[in-house]
Amino acid sequence: MKGFVPTPRETVDTMVDLLFRGRTPAADNTVLDAGCGTGQFIDGIIRWCQRRRLPVPRITGIESDPRHLLALRAKYGHLRFVSIEHADFLNEGSKPHDYIVGNPPYVPITGLSEGEKARYRTRYTTAKGRFDLYLLFFEEALRRLAPGGRLVFITPEKYLYVETAGSLRDLLARHNVEEILLVSEDTFGDLVTYPTITVISHLPPGKTRVVRRDGTAVAVTLPTGRDSWLPVIEEVATENATVRLADVCLRVSCGVATGADRVFVRPAAGLDPSLRPFAHLTIAGRELVPGLTDLPSRFVMLVPYEPDGRLMPLSQLGAFRSYLLSADVRRQLLARTCVKRKPWYAFHETPVLRDILRPKILCKDIGEIPHFWIDRPGDVIPRHSLYYIVPRDPAKIDLIAEYLRSPSAHEWLRRNCQRAAKGYLRLQSHVLQRLPVPDNLGRVAAGGRHLIGIADRPLQAQLPLG
Ligand SMILES: C[S@@+](CC[C@H](N)C(=O)[O-])C[C@H]1O[C@@H](n2cnc3c(N)ncnc32)[C@H](O)[C@@H]1O
Repeated sequence: MKGFVPTPRETVDTMVDLLFRGRTPAADNTVLDAGCGTGQFIDGIIRWCQRRRLPVPRITGIESDPRHLLALRAKYGHLRFVSIEHADFLNEGSKPHDYIVGNPPYVPITGLSEGEKARYRTRYTTAKGRFDLYLLFFEEALRRLAPGGRLVFITPEKYLYVETAGSLRDLLARHNVEEILLVSEDTFGDLVTYPTITVISHLPPGKTRVVRRDGTAVAVTLPTGRDSWLPVIEEVATENATVRLADVCLRVSCGVATGADRVFVRPAAGLDPSLRPFAHLTIAGRELVPGLTDLPSRFVMLVPYEPDGRLMPLSQLGAFRSYLLSADVRRQLLARTCVKRKPWYAFHETPVLRDILRPKILCKDIGEIPHFWIDRPGDVIPRHSLYYIVPRDPAKIDLIAEYLRSPSAHEWLRRNCQRAAKGYLRLQSHVLQRLPVPDNLGRVAAGGRHLIGIADRPLQAQLPLG
């Protein structure tokens, strides 16, 4: 079933309250339940009206999965105010609706066929980059919302800040986003990270009430355009912040210095297969350019270390040993002054792969303004010209990256970092570690308690073949 996650009754009731807040729905008003599943919202609307002894408006439930249809028809077939449509919501719609409610499917782009992706990209402005189906549900719902009508959706909170949802934010901010409720992290157990209820009216923009997970509420003006909404939602009081980047990260460190990149860093293409067990993708600062989302995979680093940082004896290095002992390589390594008191084939600094090969954020050591890239699979070894930031909770990687990209984080870095030539910022780990971050980054997500043990995977499995 594509994206079937039923909404708990208590959450349904909260959302229906929000849908009709300050309004009395009339019998001839229309309500659309987009992706109605087994009818949780239809039941909720009927409950809401019956409790108030009000007539139930005309409800249409749209569901694409035929497996729900039998149950839906059995449940509502006898009710003249409910009609069930077996249809794809992401298609030409019917007439506008006064109210739209739903828990749209969360289906990442990887769950879509090539045909679906192509069709959505032509039809929706929100189908950009690595989009998720729920972004398109927002856009389609806004198209089908009558002037003055109201829409209430529960979705992951990611749309508030991820780059991919920039077009959706641009679109939503042209409407009246009445309320954003960051609801409890365990609303859906482990199934949805950071669920968020969004209430939007088809009216001109106004103030937005944001209720944060700690219960505090603020009225904010959302930015227009594609910018992240996180800075205005979190409004971090940076000077008095209690949580710093170091508190939410396992590591905020400078990348690996081998002391002999010409020996240890090799082109990935054409690498001798017998060296693969020791090879990991590696990136230097000069390879990263703003706007780049897929990380380059041109080079690998040959690493003679165990995941915990112990240097492997030469006798265990197989083909790597022969490579190190070849006359030219050995000569280059012996000529180094930086590893005088270490074995001749050691790195300048010991790499602890167990900590490095994790989902992480990368940034260059020097830049006009700081830019941040995400190594989501966690299979890259950053070189010395990069810093890497490993979140304690991998589920928060986007949240942390978006905060790092926000104007408030940028402003703090601008005030606290050293300056290099041309006024460029020089990032240093001890400064990055002190960066104040929003309090909610300090809490551990449901389902995010376990760090992905990428460093425990066989080293060979981390390299692309060929
Ligand atoms: C997250 S579930 C929510 C179900 C139900 N509304 C609830 O809240 O319990 C999303 C539902 O949308 C349906 N769905 C997915 N893609 C759809 C589409 N393109 N058109 C209509 N329904 C769709 C799924 O089959 C699933 O039942």
